[in-house]
Amino acid sequence: MPFEIPDGLAKAIYVKNKFTTIANRYDLFNDIITQGMHRRWKGFLVRKTGIQSGDHALDICCGTGDITQRLQRVAGASGNVTGLDFSAGMLHVAKSRVTDRNNRFIQGDAALLPVKSDSQDAVTVGFGLRNLAEIETCLSEVWRVLKPGGRFLSLDMGKVEIPIIRPLFRFYFFVIVPMIGKIIYPGESFFDYFPHSSLDFPSQQKLAEILEKTGFTNVQYVNFHFGSTVIHYAQKPSP
Ligand SMILES: C[S@@+](CC[C@H](N)C(=O)[O-])C[C@H]1O[C@@H](n2cnc3c(N)ncnc32)[C@H](O)[C@@H]1O
Repeated sequence: MPFEIPDGLAKAIYVKNKFTTIANRYDLFNDIITQGMHRRWKGFLVRKTGIQSGDHALDICCGTGDITQRLQRVAGASGNVTGLDFSAGMLHVAKSRVTDRNNRFIQGDAALLPVKSDSQDAVTVGFGLRNLAEIETCLSEVWRVLKPGGRFLSLDMGKVEIPIIRPLFRFYFFVIVPMIGKIIYPGESFFDYFPHSSLDFPSQQKLAEILEKTGFTNVQYVNFHFGSTVIHYAQKPSP
């Protein structure tokens, strides 16, 4: 089905409004379409941040706060973990689930982080970069707020790297996923946006190059499910 993704500011407004519309059942949708695997990927991502008790971490595009809460569990009471999202609806769900008083959620734009420079040990983003109007602007902000030696981790969709199985994944993402979304939210067209948002999203190699161009070092990525999902790791160099 043809689907046109809005550009620039129009994309940001569209994404913000739509995530607020689907916030209440976003986790259910995610559990079904990934068969619960998104929770394992998030666990892996949090371990890869290397954060420790007392550390400072920022989870951008935090949505319902799944990654934020996992980070807080590791950082503990002496740590400082903030979840940031621009959708009031997603933040409302995140706040209603908080089990740790130290967890803080703020409304803000990933392209203009309301966070002090050189203040974070780790910055994470789960299925967020793909939704941004300009990835590069956000990455520059991530770079700014990380301490020297701080780590950036992104979990997102990638490009399936084995050509023969690409059509299978394409069928799943473009036909089955929107169908599941429309069963959960009858008549909601946003679920056609999901797979289409991956089309213009850089391949794993390209995103690694963008991270290096931003100034990150030690850039690596790990593929899951043949590359349909990928975790990127990057570090702000220490002086
Ligand atoms: C697919 S959800 C991911 C939620 C969560 N990180 C997860 O992994 O389950 C993407 C989230 O990014 C947020 N988002 C998209 N663009 C944003 C921006 N420019 N600034 C802040 N949040 C943004 C949306 O509101 C939405 O909650």
